[in-house]
Amino acid sequence: MACGFDVGTYNLVCCKRDEKGNFVYKREVNAFLEMPLDNDFVFNMMKQAGVPLIHREDANVAYALGESAVNIAYTMTQLELKRPMKDGCVNPKEQDAFQIMNIMVHSLLDNIQKNGERLCYCVPANAINEETDADYHRKLVEAIFTAYKSEDGNKVNAIAINEAMALVYAELKHKMFTGIGVSCGAGMVNVAFSLFGAPVFSFAIVNSGDWIDKQSAKATGETIAFINKTKTKIDLNQEPKNLVERAIKTQYELMIEKTVTGLKKGLEANKDKNAKLDAPVDIIVAGGTASPPGFDVLFEKLVREANLPIEVGKVIRPADPLFSVARGCLIAAENAG
Ligand SMILES: Nc1ncnc2c1ncn2[C@@H]1O[C@H](COP(=O)(O)OP(=O)(O)OP(=O)(O)O)[C@@H](O)[C@H]1O
Ligand SMILES: [Mg+2]
Repeated sequence: MACGFDVGTYNLVCCKRDEKGNFVYKREVNAFLEMPLDNDFVFNMMKQAGVPLIHREDANVAYALGESAVNIAYTMTQLELKRPMKDGCVNPKEQDAFQIMNIMVHSLLDNIQKNGERLCYCVPANAINEETDADYHRKLVEAIFTAYKSEDGNKVNAIAINEAMALVYAELKHKMFTGIGVSCGAGMVNVAFSLFGAPVFSFAIVNSGDWIDKQSAKATGETIAFINKTKTKIDLNQEPKNLVERAIKTQYELMIEKTVTGLKKGLEANKDKNAKLDAPVDIIVAGGTASPPGFDVLFEKLVREANLPIEVGKVIRPADPLFSVARGCLIAAENAG
């Protein structure tokens, strides 16, 4: 048995296998909200409704966690939804981030059956356009896994892998793990080029789902929540029908252009290693932001136009773009050591 864990800015995903060898996923939104405890009525009603809650008596507050927190914040607009991570890393401005993530990650891990079970979790590369501290983030997440203990006292043996490499492990076994992974999440786009399972280069750009929401909201005067909802209905194959759709599609184009420019630079800087490639290189695009219809078509169009210094094979979007990173982490754990 092994375990894969995608520690994301918006989604936490745990992947294991069942007895038949099928992949099983558990997902929770990486968000919480803080409620003052003087409002006993609301607290009790939420508890009755099955909302995951933590009671912090010292500060007289309660926290609602995960998807429930998102739903509550949507209806009770006086409560602010908080996110433990920002731009791919633990949010330095959120004091309770570590404690909240600790609880959510341990709950998703559930009951680990074997002491020392191998687990791979993903970490981003440092961003090329914003100051991020991926090393510090990795240490914090490592501490969360080190602190885990099941009911029977079982611990996990956790190893960090690059998020975009996880996509290569998930999808390119038949290509001997040679190819390019592009994970388009909420905080970041992570890119890695893998030769036989080893990273040649990787980088990240803070310019993904959250960025599309923020910039499109700014351009149209709509709320971020409205843009976020509209985004899930967009079809990138179609001409935009209104201002909001145009703003979202334009942000998608900008995001992909920046990603492809970064990829081209990385490939050019590593020309000596690419020179030995004798087959076209496939590109895996996944992550929630890669979900809309036509995303893969648009990505492929911009890649072909960029004239990369390698022969590009297929641009592949897995059927379950939200879960591919977690699956790749599990496959890495199964193959480690
Ligand atoms: N159907 C959809 N259409 C468009 N965007 C979507 C869809 N589903 C999810 N998203 C967006 O995908 C993002 C979440 O994706 P994902 O879970 O891959 O990110 P993450 O791994 O949590 O973030 P990161 O990798 O940056 O840390 C959010 O910005 C969300 O709005
Ligand atoms: Mg991600």
